[in-house]
Amino acid sequence: MELKAVRGMHDLFGPELERWLAVETKARGIFQSFGYGEMRTPVLERLEVFSQTVGDDTDIVEKQMYLVAGDDSEKLVLRPEGTAAFMRAVVEHQLHQTGKPQRFYYYLSMFRHERPQKGRLRQFHQFGAELINDDSPEADAELITLLDAFLKSFGIVEYEVRINSVGCANCRPAYKEKLIAYLRPHFDSLCADCQKRFERSPMRVLDCKKESCQKIAADAPRMVDHLCAECQTHHTILKKRLNASGVTFLDDPNIVRGLDYYIRTAFEFTSNLLGAQSALAGGGRYDGLSSRFSNTNFPGVGFGLGMERIMLVLEQKQTLVTAPSNPRYYFAPLGPEAFELLYPLSLNLKRRGVAVEMTYGQKKLKDLLKLADRSGAQFTLMVGDRELQEGQAPLKDMANRTQENIPIAQLEEELFRRASCV
Ligand code: HAM
Repeated sequence: MELKAVRGMHDLFGPELERWLAVETKARGIFQSFGYGEMRTPVLERLEVFSQTVGDDTDIVEKQMYLVAGDDSEKLVLRPEGTAAFMRAVVEHQLHQTGKPQRFYYYLSMFRHERPQKGRLRQFHQFGAELINDDSPEADAELITLLDAFLKSFGIVEYEVRINSVGCANCRPAYKEKLIAYLRPHFDSLCADCQKRFERSPMRVLDCKKESCQKIAADAPRMVDHLCAECQTHHTILKKRLNASGVTFLDDPNIVRGLDYYIRTAFEFTSNLLGAQSALAGGGRYDGLSSRFSNTNFPGVGFGLGMERIMLVLEQKQTLVTAPSNPRYYFAPLGPEAFELLYPLSLNLKRRGVAVEMTYGQKKLKDLLKLADRSGAQFTLMVGDRELQEGQAPLKDMANRTQENIPIAQLEEELFRRASCV
């Protein structure tokens, strides 16, 4: 049997991986400039990290987690999302105890057993940002502004920022009652998932993608009209801050998010360049999440951004972010003596950070010329016996086909100098 990668999981290599690396490098720079430091958590966590936080009725906990065989005493799962794992780590290392705002970002693989389709994978990669110990609406606005800046820095402008408030433990229960009362007469028209969650998670009907549920949701009472005074103030200030920082947004009362831990702010960045899986990123506030698995209680807000979806958008726009992946120099030795000169020189330059490509073994001139072209190098250095005797090596500019002689005695310094001044 031919062995293939697991469905919904992909190999990455070559130019595609180069494009990923270019995006990743730039992304890290953006997080750093907003003051977010990286955190890496293990790929395996105890099941409870997610079941106690993300919610029993959510798709993730109900049906999407990969359970890994361990011993009977603990159930381990592949991380399906970053926030709960991040909070587990924060509490474990008492990072919240400074009482001061702390900013972290992560770039990690996530695993969800979903039906694969364009933009939806079983192993996907997420950039996430989390800000803890700050319950202000300014913190929410900072995260949304960061996400907006992130996308714009890649030239992505084709998206909508949708924000909502999902209320808190004070105002949500009464609203849920109202919503259930509204939905009850429509029960038979709801999809099977919504019927199942009807009593415990009626708000999920609001963001259900099934057309029949969406029709019913259109006239449902809205959480934003039933907020308590604190939630109302929080939401109003958030919008004021976003307006002031020039982030264009839409009020979308149907953004409730598929995870249970959100309170107050919930938001999504959607793009119609993506097709059915239109969410580029999503996030919100999750004060109190820590109290679901520890005796601490501190506020947090954050977002997750799908790397594969960013790459899809960049492809659609044909504005691929590229890193200079081609070598700067291609070394072509004509004969064993030239090889003795160029081989150590290539390694020395690589050690000093200059990208050099060289074909090992003896090759004919014709083949070397072909290889030089294919390498995509900016310059080719071709050295044979005559050049060694004359002490001059011709460096050919592959784009405009000009040539310049470099004294062999100064080759390393001269090639290094030229590579570093660009
Ligand atoms: P989420 O909405 O489940 O939120 O995921 C965030 C983003 O990850 C989505 O908007 C999407 O771009 C990407 N994503 C999700 N599932 C898939 C998939 N199967 N294939 C490809 N991309 C996918 C969270 O995970 C929260 N932890 C976000 C958060 C952080 N909230 C607060 N802090």
